[in-house]
Amino acid sequence: MFKHESIETNTGLLIVLTLVAIGIGGLVEIVPLFYIDGTVEEVKTADGKDAVRPYTPLELRGRDIYIKEGCYNCHSQMIRPFRDEALRYGHYSLAAESQYDHPFQWGSKRTGPDLARVGGKYSNGWHVKHLVKPTAVVPTSIMPNYPWLLENKLSFGDIKERMLALKQVGVPYSFTQIEFDANVEKFGEKVAKTLDINKADENLMAQAKKMNTDGDAARITEMEALVAYLQVLGTMIDFKQHDEHEFIQFR
Ligand code: HEC
Repeated sequence: MFKHESIETNTGLLIVLTLVAIGIGGLVEIVPLFYIDGTVEEVKTADGKDAVRPYTPLELRGRDIYIKEGCYNCHSQMIRPFRDEALRYGHYSLAAESQYDHPFQWGSKRTGPDLARVGGKYSNGWHVKHLVKPTAVVPTSIMPNYPWLLENKLSFGDIKERMLALKQVGVPYSFTQIEFDANVEKFGEKVAKTLDINKADENLMAQAKKMNTDGDAARITEMEALVAYLQVLGTMIDFKQHDEHEFIQFR
């Protein structure tokens, strides 16, 4: 058809053919997305409820602090479907696991390890020590100290507005009785109660009191929120209940 040389020496033709090649590649990637039912796995618990739920108010504030402090600059939250990653971090991340994250924290840079499944790996006490001064528990760590997390009182006066904003973009926090009932159906009653915007303050305070990472139950610090968030990462799906190959069709 064309001689290679005549394409390379004719800029206009090269541009047109490059665009055609990119166009074909783009279509092959994008068109199938319009024809499959979904790219987000439906993962259920043993009793048929959604395994992945939106964050509780305290976890949500913790996530805000994670973003505010720039933790994402060094930590990704996406385990790729490669053998070495699965061996180090656990089951590869599913789309379902970040479906309620706005914005998601997948990240592209790992100065520190991936945190997608860090929940439950350490005790709350370990996290507090580590965040205040990482070298206290990992002597060679280059992670910065975050001592103010224990000192800063958590501000959550706008927690309802934050949840309402996320509701606008599709996160199923409930505001009306109808929405609450739908959540009971979807997540079970215990979880549905934590997603009720009207009860956000009480729920946040109750969870923080249980965490009590600073030894003063009456004080709610940024530390409590951040540790609550870290401890839930990657723990919502019980992979022991699922066949190893169950999620392959979504890849
Ligand atoms: C300058 C880069 C950097 C920043 C910013 C950073 N970290 Fe780290 N983080 C690291 C490194 C390196 C390690 C591994 C050494 C260690 O455990 O301290 C680590 C380890 C961790 C671990 C333990 C992970 C594991 O599986 O052992 C947690 C949890 C963690 N970081 C949370 C955070 C949080 C939360 C923030 C934000 C408040 C943060 N990091 C900010 C570099 C960073």
